[in-house]
Amino acid sequence: MLLLNASGCLDALAAPEVARQLDAFVTKTITPLPREGNAPPRIAETAHGMLNAIGLANPGRERFLGEMLPRLHELELPLWVSVGGFCASDYADTCAVLEDVAAIELNLSCPNVDEGADSAAKIVASCRAATSLPIYAKLSAAHPDVAGVARAVADAGADGLSLVNTLRGLALDPQTLKPILARATGGLSGPSLKPIALATVYACYAATGLPIVGMGGVTTGLDARQFIACGALHVALGTVMFSDPDAASRVREELAELGGERVYALAHDAENTLDLRAKVEV
Ligand SMILES: Cc1cc2nc3c(=O)[nH]c(=O)nc-3n(C[C@H](O)[C@H](O)[C@H](O)COP(=O)(O)O)c2cc1C
Repeated sequence: MLLLNASGCLDALAAPEVARQLDAFVTKTITPLPREGNAPPRIAETAHGMLNAIGLANPGRERFLGEMLPRLHELELPLWVSVGGFCASDYADTCAVLEDVAAIELNLSCPNVDEGADSAAKIVASCRAATSLPIYAKLSAAHPDVAGVARAVADAGADGLSLVNTLRGLALDPQTLKPILARATGGLSGPSLKPIALATVYACYAATGLPIVGMGGVTTGLDARQFIACGALHVALGTVMFSDPDAASRVREELAELGGERVYALAHDAENTLDLRAKVEV
């Protein structure tokens, strides 16, 4: 089991001591061309979680490879590169030039960009042909048949799944009743996402049996253990990193206290009810 950060929730170059608490660092999503992202305000706190409409702001593939990746390697941590784009070749072209990283996470689920994307399976198939590195497909719980999408990306060659990305939400200013975010909507993250994320992990694990990075509202060791119980092999910390930079060390300690050496994962029996079977190494 690996403890990771969720993409976009930690700048490892600005906070290397925080990154070193993790088993691997996941980069912010990289697109072929630089993106400034959406206009501010692009973060809003709500009573139910955080809304962000960053819009994949990133320096673009060339600067990432030439400037950021060499500095990230100096951290001597396994690196997962989050790859984004707007058509299958965008993703595949980036995969083709990545080497010496532990894994690639394909962001197939950003709620904050308008451009349409090719189907998840088509993108994964293109990337599979472009790289032999492990590919994790990051999916959205918003899809009405996320288990079907998980099966399709597994058939297309994904080695694992990252579940889940944020879900589109809207916050209004209580006085003006206008949207707080300049873009109006943004991605909802934090504890309110957890029950949805657990259901998604549970369904996709049953559908594919693939290794899963579970995320969505993890703030404690018990949260992490619950993701593992639903079928996740690894766990990622997102929004919690903004309020508690030492969350990774704390969650790891809490998980060890809860589970000892091993915890039980819930598997699905024929009637699709929960059944304590598979054992997962922590
Ligand atoms: C400020 C912010 C930026 C994010 N940027 C990305 C991103 O670039 N790529 C991506 O795949 N997910 C991105 N996410 C989604 C997170 O990786 C994660 O899937 C989501 O926040 C759910 O986990 P959490 O509830 O623990 O935050 C971002 C989330 C936040 C809050």
